[in-house]
Order: sequence, then structure tokens, then C-alpha cells
Amino acid sequence: MIYQEIQEKIKKIAKSKNAVILAHNYQRPEIQDIADFVGDSLHLSRCASKTDADIILFCGVSFMAETAKILAPSKKVLLPRYEAGCPMAMMITKSELQKLKDNHPDAVVVAYVNTTAEIKAMADVCCTSSNALKVVKGIKERKIIFVPDKNLADYCKRRTPEKEFIIYDGYCYVHNQITYKQLKNTKDKYPAARVLAHPECPFEALQLADEILSTEKMVEYVEKSEYNEFIIATEPGIIHRLKKNAPSKKFITVENCQICKTMKMTTIEDVYNAIVEEKYEITLEPDIIKKACSSLDKMLKYI
Ligand code: 13P
Ligand code: SF4
Repeated sequence: MIYQEIQEKIKKIAKSKNAVILAHNYQRPEIQDIADFVGDSLHLSRCASKTDADIILFCGVSFMAETAKILAPSKKVLLPRYEAGCPMAMMITKSELQKLKDNHPDAVVVAYVNTTAEIKAMADVCCTSSNALKVVKGIKERKIIFVPDKNLADYCKRRTPEKEFIIYDGYCYVHNQITYKQLKNTKDKYPAARVLAHPECPFEALQLADEILSTEKMVEYVEKSEYNEFIIATEPGIIHRLKKNAPSKKFITVENCQICKTMKMTTIEDVYNAIVEEKYEITLEPDIIKKACSSLDKMLKYI
């Protein structure tokens, strides 16, 4: 209720400017509540590619707003907090990827969507946590360079033994710190709960999962499931959406789970300032947009 006034102002201004508000599942609750679409990276990429709005106000981190700009280059794309980046996306540089490509010229490059536009432009195809395995399975060639998430790469590698993987050493600090012990302790405390884990978690923790799902797939799973109690092994921001969609069900976070600091950087006041002042606009070189769009277009074929 404390945010009602500013939320209403944002919605009114957004409507008058023909702006669509997209918010990732990890955004603050008061921001999720005013978004036209809330979802995971794949769902929001699709929304951006299909929208007929003039402005896309992206509440998330910079690689997501860049992805929206690549998929909808004629639109004005705004990121309310300029510094809200994904630390994992910053782990791989152009020169590091170039070295891998030079050393393995016969490999297909799969870039997780959590990368900069420049890295996407150097890749053959992108993927998100929700379609990574399908993307990998759809590649005819045997050899794959997978950047930057080592845990998502490992998850795909274990399910496609016919492929050879060159795995980069990047990771998400939120998911990578979900250990076997933390998840086991949580499971011991709530033995009746279903464990839903994100594939950015390390293999040891994933061993304890009943289901391995992207954030959007978690929402879908909970809605359809006959279970009533769930341990959610991902960034806790998703709990708001899960509770909203299934108010009678119980959601438990993993013991000592981190929050993503940059996902929580954006405040409702930032969103207000962004829509009023139309900031911070994402701009990318046309050549980067063209190349990165090819990798993203291929990704969007896999649901
Ligand atoms: P999804 O949005 O694909 O669930 O990935 C989670 C994430 O860490 C995004 O930064
Ligand atoms: Fe990046 Fe992890 Fe935060 Fe997602 S949760 S934005 S992968 S640091």
C-alpha cells in the first residue's frame, strides 16, 4: 500500500507514452506488481520481440535490456538503474572468447543470454536457462564452446554425452553458493517439500532436486502440481510471484541463500524517474545488433 501512489503514477505515465514495463522474476515485489509482463529471461525476450509499444522499460539487469534492444532495435529501451549489471555476464571478455574460438575453430559457440551484446555477437547461438538443453541438443556439430556459466554448461553436458564441451569458468554468485549442505539442511527441516532448483546451481546441489527448472518453469510447475510445499533453490525474489500465483501453497528458501544485489538495485523511485525522464537509454552499434540478433533469433526457436 505504501507504494500505491507512485505505482499509479508510473502506470499512468507509461500508458500515455505507450511504454511497456517488463520485470524479471527477481525484481522487488512493488516493481513486479506494476509490470505488464513478469517472467524469466526467455519469456521477457519474447515479450520484447513482439511488443508494439514505443518504449520498453526493462526492470532487470543490463544484459536483459540489451537483449530487448537487439530484438526490437527500433524501440526506445530503458534500464532504470544504469549500474544494474549481472556479475556473471562480466566474467567473459571478447578476447577470452576469441582465444577459445581460435583454439577450437570446429566448435559451435553457445552463449548464455547472461552475456554482453558483444559476446552474443561473437556466438553462433544464445540460450537461456529454460531452453539451454534444447539448444544444445539441436546443434548438429559435436563440439560446443559454452560460455560463461560453468554450472549450466555442466547440466547440459551430463545430459548430452555424445557432445564434447569446452566449458568456461564463469558462474552466478547467488546460485553457485547454494551448496549441497545448505540444501540438505533445508530438506531435512522440511522433508515433505518438493525441491525445485535452478540449473545455475552446482551439480552437487542439483543432486538433491526433484525438478531442475528456470524461474518461469518453476511458476508453471507449482501451478499444476498437486504438492503444497516447495523448497525454492534460486534467488528468493521469485517467491513473490510464486505466492501470488498459488497463495495457498508454502514456499521455503534455501538456508543462507544470497540475494542478487544488482537485481534488487532498482527501486520503484528509479522506475518512476526512468519513465518520466526516459532514462537510461540502451544504445548499441548497428553491427553488434545485427550479429547478436542472429544468435538470439536462433535461440527464440527453442521454447
Ligand atoms: P532465468 O531468468 O532464465 O530463470 O535465469 C535466472 C537468472 O539468473 C537471470 O539472471
Ligand atoms: Fe546475474 Fe545471478 Fe544476479 Fe541472475 S541472479 S543477474 S545470473 S548474478
